[in-house]
Amino acid sequence: MPNVAVIGAQWGDEGKGKVVDWLASRADLVVRFQGGHNAGHTLVVGNQTYKLSLLPSGLVRGKMGIIGNGVVIDPEALLAEIERVRGQGIEVTPATLRVAENAPLILPLHAALDRAREAARGERKIGTTGRGIGPAYEDKVARRAIRVADLAEPATLDAKLDELLLHHNTLLRGLGAETFEKPTLMQYLLDLAPRILPFAEPVWERLDEARRAGRRILFEGAQAVMLDIDHGTYPYVTSSNTVAATAASGSGMGPHAIGFVLGIAKAYTTRVGSGPFPTELLDATGQMIGDRGREFGTVTGRRRRCGWFDATMVRQAVTVGGIQGIVLTKLDVLDGLPELKIGVGYRLDGETVSRLPASPAAQAAAEPVFETIEGWSGSSAGARSWADLPAQAVKYVRRIEELVGAPVILLTTGPEREDTIVVRDPFEG
Ligand code: GDP
Ligand code: IMO
Ligand code: MG
Repeated sequence: MPNVAVIGAQWGDEGKGKVVDWLASRADLVVRFQGGHNAGHTLVVGNQTYKLSLLPSGLVRGKMGIIGNGVVIDPEALLAEIERVRGQGIEVTPATLRVAENAPLILPLHAALDRAREAARGERKIGTTGRGIGPAYEDKVARRAIRVADLAEPATLDAKLDELLLHHNTLLRGLGAETFEKPTLMQYLLDLAPRILPFAEPVWERLDEARRAGRRILFEGAQAVMLDIDHGTYPYVTSSNTVAATAASGSGMGPHAIGFVLGIAKAYTTRVGSGPFPTELLDATGQMIGDRGREFGTVTGRRRRCGWFDATMVRQAVTVGGIQGIVLTKLDVLDGLPELKIGVGYRLDGETVSRLPASPAAQAAAEPVFETIEGWSGSSAGARSWADLPAQAVKYVRRIEELVGAPVILLTTGPEREDTIVVRDPFEG
């Protein structure tokens, strides 16, 4: 099977964009299958930095990009992003980008509800990106979403907006937020329709043809397994399934089409937003890792919380996410630390457990059990082969491999496209 799926194995921002960009040279199509513009994928190519939220990262390599039905699409954000990357010299036209006609839309009322709810939660806020992702997925499941294809049938929009507004204005009013008017939203949709519809098609057909022709499909995940709506640290999660299985349902292909599943994990751990984080470092080491790793959210600009590598959590992500190989990123950020810790279990109610419990209270109470490993004094930054790595860095990678139960397939040692060590070509399985 020539296809590869890339998913996050922690809480996001592991370097999926960089890895997808690197792998895209070997792929024919790159497909986003869940999430929305809550994602922020950074690609560094020479002196250009690309920050992509909705567009598949393969577009930077000139590869066909597909936005699957599992993605929630903010049409305004999509058009703005297309303009932005065009300004950086990337060609995005209906010849290079196709959007699933059955994908649900994010409208301004979704972002308004997302923010009003977060404000109402106060201390208990989830720390969402405020982009309407959760409310848009709710509408999809509630069968009241307006989808891409609906833009082609303006006569049907009136009744759809009535249903949406009944629901949203009731909630917004209850939350003390501003409500929306039907004529304004109708005009908004009518204006967007001719700009979005040229990209729309049944992408499942194109993907099926590509699969039959033996073309290589690369699935680009957003967020990560610990943010998965079912398997993550609920309720501090995003509103989609982020596991590899979603690559199939979120693009309109069968489960056998997914191919080899790569889980991306940082050599340490970060998290944006609220929620439990057992191996979090609240000291100077955490601060240093954050500074050196430039751990600021691509979408939110918020400082990311930093901590040691949590092997228990990644092992769980490997299992539930269907991960067959690991890409370990940002190893260079740990250069020069005298010693490193790896989380190998949790202490909970006087017992040691080897999985993250489901209850938020238990997750918050879980104390990490650490294994200490010697650091390295040499530099791994920019290394492009095993031979360039300090011996102790290799030991660290090998230990992680053992603990998480999946082989390291690629290793990255810098933000640049070519700062990558290849152990095995994932397209070869
Ligand atoms: P994504 O959401 O998983 O695509 O990750 P982000 O792009 O949000 O965050 C990863 C950040 O780390 C980006 O700024 C990348 O340029 C950067 N990055 C990726 N790989 C490496 C690496 O191996 N070393 C260093 N120092 N930075 C990296
Ligand atoms: P990439 O693809 C890191 C987090 C938010 C918040 C929670 C819910 O760049 O790895 P949402 O707006 O989705 O309802 O927010 O999920 N979150 C991410 N954290 N990386 C991401 O994407 C994220 N997308 C959402 O911070 O805690
Ligand atoms: Mg990101």
